[in-house]
Amino acid sequence: MTAYPPFTRTPAYLSLMLHADAMKHKHLRDLFRHDPDRGENFVARAAGLYFDYSKHIIADTTLRLLEKLADERQLDQHIAAMFRGDKINSTEDRAVLHVALRAPREAEIMVDGQNVVPEVHAVLDKMGHFAERVRSGEWRGHTGKRIKNIVNIGIGGSDLGPVMAYEALKPYTARDMVFRFVSNVDGSDFAEAVRDLDASETLFIVASKTFTTLETMANADLARQWVLAALTAPEAIAKHFVAVSTNEKAVREFGIDTANMFGFWDWVGGRYSMDSAIGLSTMLAIGPDHFRAMLDGFHAMDEHFRTAPYLENLPVIMGLLTVWYVNFFGVSSIAVLPYDQYLKRFPAYLQQLTMESNGKSVTLAGERVDYATGPVYWGEPGTNGQHSFHQLIHQGTAVIPCDFIGFKHTHNPLGSHHAFLQANMLAQAEALAFGKTYEQLRLEGVSEAMIPHRLFEGNRPSSMILAEQLTPATLGSLIALYEHSVFTQGVIWGINSFDQWGVELGKVLAKRIIPELQNPAAALNHDSSTNTLIRFLRG
Ligand code: F6P
Repeated sequence: MTAYPPFTRTPAYLSLMLHADAMKHKHLRDLFRHDPDRGENFVARAAGLYFDYSKHIIADTTLRLLEKLADERQLDQHIAAMFRGDKINSTEDRAVLHVALRAPREAEIMVDGQNVVPEVHAVLDKMGHFAERVRSGEWRGHTGKRIKNIVNIGIGGSDLGPVMAYEALKPYTARDMVFRFVSNVDGSDFAEAVRDLDASETLFIVASKTFTTLETMANADLARQWVLAALTAPEAIAKHFVAVSTNEKAVREFGIDTANMFGFWDWVGGRYSMDSAIGLSTMLAIGPDHFRAMLDGFHAMDEHFRTAPYLENLPVIMGLLTVWYVNFFGVSSIAVLPYDQYLKRFPAYLQQLTMESNGKSVTLAGERVDYATGPVYWGEPGTNGQHSFHQLIHQGTAVIPCDFIGFKHTHNPLGSHHAFLQANMLAQAEALAFGKTYEQLRLEGVSEAMIPHRLFEGNRPSSMILAEQLTPATLGSLIALYEHSVFTQGVIWGINSFDQWGVELGKVLAKRIIPELQNPAAALNHDSSTNTLIRFLRG
């Protein structure tokens, strides 16, 4: 890559500053009035997704300037570098190749002189074979009983993706099996997950990239004790535990036969790993064919991201719009509102993907940024959110751009429910954009005293992401859309979206506090607040 200016020194940044001053005085009502075809023009389609971004406070000039910004920040070269396997995660000296996890068998992606695609497919084949054996009942527990219950033990990327995908794809899951997910180092999480399960019918997947994570190792230990308490024989472990990890040595030391280990690689970040072996629980739930369909959905979006021009490129447009609001409108949070109950864990999944990736305040060169970076992502499925926090999005003082996600067809066509759901989604976006004016309220006979309370200013931006149905392929495309949007944002901001050093200090401090809590006589050398709190908790 040739030298290029920092974000705030690009000519496009300065133009966008001036342009934003003008756009802040525009209202979506006027933008739609002046361009009646806006709802057809500000649309992009790819990989089964329809992306309407017409309800954003943008004009053609905005898009041209954002395109220029992407050019000046050499986004295309960064995309090429990622797909090529360059070590773009420089603080960990690693390539970033989640795209290789869904590359077709015949593709070639080199890391350190070696094509990684055959290894990826070898693991997928091994997972497929194992999943078929468990699902068909060929793989039996220690006492000869069929495995009916799968418990995934993992946290962060080793939990959020698998649990989200299980919930999202429930209509495709083996309904005669039970799937549970244990993440928290709160004994209640484990206790509740296994309280009605029979150990002889239960398989634990210990999912941890590093196989050193405190929470996961503590829960895996509990699980081992729980299995041994019921089945007594140490050989039972081999039939009731499998591991997903990059750390073969630690898996062996834990006592899991590495023949029952499914590997992945350091070039897969935890929050980008749900389509690697970390997705074993997903594959057990939906079967290998649906899992591969999901990978095809990811890959379709990858190819679109890699090849489409910026202003036809869904993840690029989405990422640039985020930059537009964060850096030129002072936006600090984005709501994700899936109008599909099966996507109930999608916002939680996105929290890690977006915030662990772009919650950074130094550039790749280690310099402190003098501009805002990653916004907070949050949300709940609609229509539930409408009866809780939408009030603030409609009438609060902060502007919160929203991503609405909806589907033409439902998996459960019951009564008029789906029409009610879709109508509410469209109505929310319409109300946010266009609001209700003083004149409208007056014509409705609302009293002068009440008008300020009932006024909807509107001009609240939103995207609408639609697809035919929530299928494995659609889910893959949707996740890849967000993954690449996060990358686009990171490139514009010049930060490393693939490390997570900010999680380390808390882990180190917790290790110091554990023995201090367990030993009432331990001397305390923290600040006065932490010391007093420890004394309170150790009773
Ligand atoms: O603490 C943060 C983190 O490292 C995440 O990035 C990761 O997804 C999670 O912990 C779990 O890590 P592992 O899969 O190694 O147990």
